[in-house]
Amino acid sequence: MSARTSNAGTTPGGATSEREAARWVQEMFGQVAPRYDFLNHFLSLNIDTRWRAHTVRRIAHILSNPGARAMDLCCGTGDLLVAMERAAGRPLLGSDFCYPMLAGAARKLDRLGLHSSLFDADGLELPLAGESLDLITIAFGFRNFSNYRRGLVELRRVLKPGATLAILEFSQPPNPAFRAFYNFYSTHVLPRIGGLISGSSAAYSYLPASVRKFPGAPELRDWILEEGFREVEFDYLTFGIAALHLARK
Ligand SMILES: C[S@@+](CC[C@H](N)C(=O)[O-])C[C@H]1O[C@@H](n2cnc3c(N)ncnc32)[C@H](O)[C@@H]1O
Repeated sequence: MSARTSNAGTTPGGATSEREAARWVQEMFGQVAPRYDFLNHFLSLNIDTRWRAHTVRRIAHILSNPGARAMDLCCGTGDLLVAMERAAGRPLLGSDFCYPMLAGAARKLDRLGLHSSLFDADGLELPLAGESLDLITIAFGFRNFSNYRRGLVELRRVLKPGATLAILEFSQPPNPAFRAFYNFYSTHVLPRIGGLISGSSAAYSYLPASVRKFPGAPELRDWILEEGFREVEFDYLTFGIAALHLARK
């Protein structure tokens, strides 16, 4: 990881330590949890559903292996986990450190007749044995880690040799004109609508601020490589608003 980003993690709301940053993120998601699904689909014009579907297609070969142990980390209210369990045809694992988001995932799985197991865990300190998983997915969670390097080290620890890490995350659109348009929308339009509907303007100001601070896809690829993963590749999604990184341990 380059010197500029060596200790980087999210730093919301003036947090002065990693612990404060993590608690801020946890509480913020707790506040928006009841309206998270609606807002997600509404503000992204439902494009987020297509991004998760793309992710599932890219990992389908792992999900279709009945012996593969897969976990969706930062599963939130469970949208990616639902798509993964449906593709796999068997229960998987989902975890998150925000209880209200996990409770939403539990209700959703129940309503849809799905049976994945959920557990409360911090992605930087997973309660899992080393080399125990064949696949970890993270959708829009990694950006919120209070220390990206430690996060990658921890994910690598619990993956088996040869296992896959899939990170779906907001990114920096490579085209400057599109990036300017998107920055305007995410800085001026999204926080107003998101704040009004969710009642948490902090949450929807944090979102564009954290996206702006997060690296572009080539830089994230370099970070992942620097933490010992190989075969790291990425797909830009919707002009680079998001990117899916795939890596092997
Ligand atoms: C934007 S939501 C994404 C939820 C879901 N993956 C989706 O695609 O809709 C981010 C989630 O990451 C979780 N999260 C952030 N940092 C975390 C950490 N260190 N450990 C576990 N979960 C974390 C939050 O609680 C939140 O539920």
